[in-house]
Amino acid sequence: MRELLQKIESKTVQVGVIGMGYVGLPLAIEIASSGIKVLGIDVVESKVKQINEGRSYIPDVSPAAVSRHVQSGRFRAVNDFKILSSLDAIIICVPTPLSKTKDPDLSMVVSAVERIAEHLRPNQLIVLESTTYPGTTEELMLPKFEEAGLKVGKDFFLAFSPERVDPGNSVYNTRNTPKVIGGITSNCLEVASKLYQHFIEKVVPVSSSRAAEMVKLLENTFRSVNIGLVNEVALMCDRLRVDVWEVIEAAASKPFGFMPFQPGPGLGGHCIPIDPLYLSWKLKTLNYRARFIELASEINADMPHYVVNKVNDALNEFSKSVKNSKILILGVSYKKDIDDLRESPALDVIQLLQNRGAKVMYHDPYVPEIRLDGTSLISMNLDQGLRDADCAVIITNHSNIDYRKVVDASKVVLDTRNATKGIKSPRIIRL
Ligand SMILES: NC(=O)c1ccc[n+]([C@@H]2O[C@H](COP(=O)([O-])OP(=O)(O)OC[C@H]3O[C@@H](n4cnc5c(N)ncnc54)[C@H](O)[C@@H]3O)[C@@H](O)[C@H]2O)c1
Repeated sequence: MRELLQKIESKTVQVGVIGMGYVGLPLAIEIASSGIKVLGIDVVESKVKQINEGRSYIPDVSPAAVSRHVQSGRFRAVNDFKILSSLDAIIICVPTPLSKTKDPDLSMVVSAVERIAEHLRPNQLIVLESTTYPGTTEELMLPKFEEAGLKVGKDFFLAFSPERVDPGNSVYNTRNTPKVIGGITSNCLEVASKLYQHFIEKVVPVSSSRAAEMVKLLENTFRSVNIGLVNEVALMCDRLRVDVWEVIEAAASKPFGFMPFQPGPGLGGHCIPIDPLYLSWKLKTLNYRARFIELASEINADMPHYVVNKVNDALNEFSKSVKNSKILILGVSYKKDIDDLRESPALDVIQLLQNRGAKVMYHDPYVPEIRLDGTSLISMNLDQGLRDADCAVIITNHSNIDYRKVVDASKVVLDTRNATKGIKSPRIIRL
């Protein structure tokens, strides 16, 4: 342990990050910025190539930063796992999606763990950052590493540290977002904390990897449940003929005991719609039904249907049907000012409208093309789209779209994000 701690202290530690995506690439850049050598490992050859050419494919990571660290020799990428035995610390940032049956799909974590186990040697630290259910590090990873005969906390070190990156957030990034860490043993926690302190401003230790896993799920379940609640409030306000946005804004004037959440067309992204289901799945194995999670998930998953019914009502006002109407979707990424389409409710809304016979177009300055069930749609020019469309539907409120112009040029606008706040027009229908 002392040898590893000395390497960490002197920054001669060799770190590898497995998974060069939205989480892994920004993390690798922070590690390199702290003066520590880092190797990015990914199975996708094109990502490896782009990194080594000094390019970035993640909007939050500047190409200049990648290029600077590659040129300085502090950062490079490979898709060869043999290199793992030469590393002192390995951080896993691979995806943890759901299977078709909505169960945790840990196949990519398992694959990374198996590759590490093949090359495990004494004095290595392994940290899992991928979001997962409580118990994964201890129940799934630890036994695979101990098969080699090494003892955790003595011969090698294992910890969990959830990633909290918020793509597109201009204030909080990997470095200045506090990082929770839980080790399998106190030695594991100490080694991992010492490493992270070089490139993360504040480390928050917890007593176990299981607690650290649960922290992430609490954070994301908190969001999912509160968004589910406010979405249901939007449905209730619709029946009561009350403007939900006005109600939320006024409620948020209370300086204590209330935290505003925004309703919308449904949940998107790689975290909030998925992570709580990791928790409810784990609880099912312990004969417990996570009722809040299930209910919130049900309400949130139903929002795209609600949006489509609203489009139907909007067109009805003009004696038109959804069938054969031209509908322009504005914004398809799951949240504003980013290009990430994963789990985006826009995809559900488009599919539901197409199923009802609508001719769907879209405009998104961040997403040039989307593929749905083998067909592809290309982002169209905003002015032309507004001219052609019978109805415009705002799904994502990108900062660089002029919503005044959208309202003026549209026949009718369904605004699911309050993007037209402050604009008065009989053409606007709000969620
Ligand atoms: N994106 C976010 O905002 C965010 C925020 C917090 C936590 N997380 C969590 O972080 C984890 C990673 O998410 P992400 O958004 O970075 O995913 P991503 O899809 O952007 O990146 C993952 C990368 O891992 C690579 N990969 C997959 N299997 C691999 C393997 N066996 N070996 C090496 N590389 C492999 C993929 O090619 C990809 O480049 C997930 O568990 C996610 O839930 C994501």
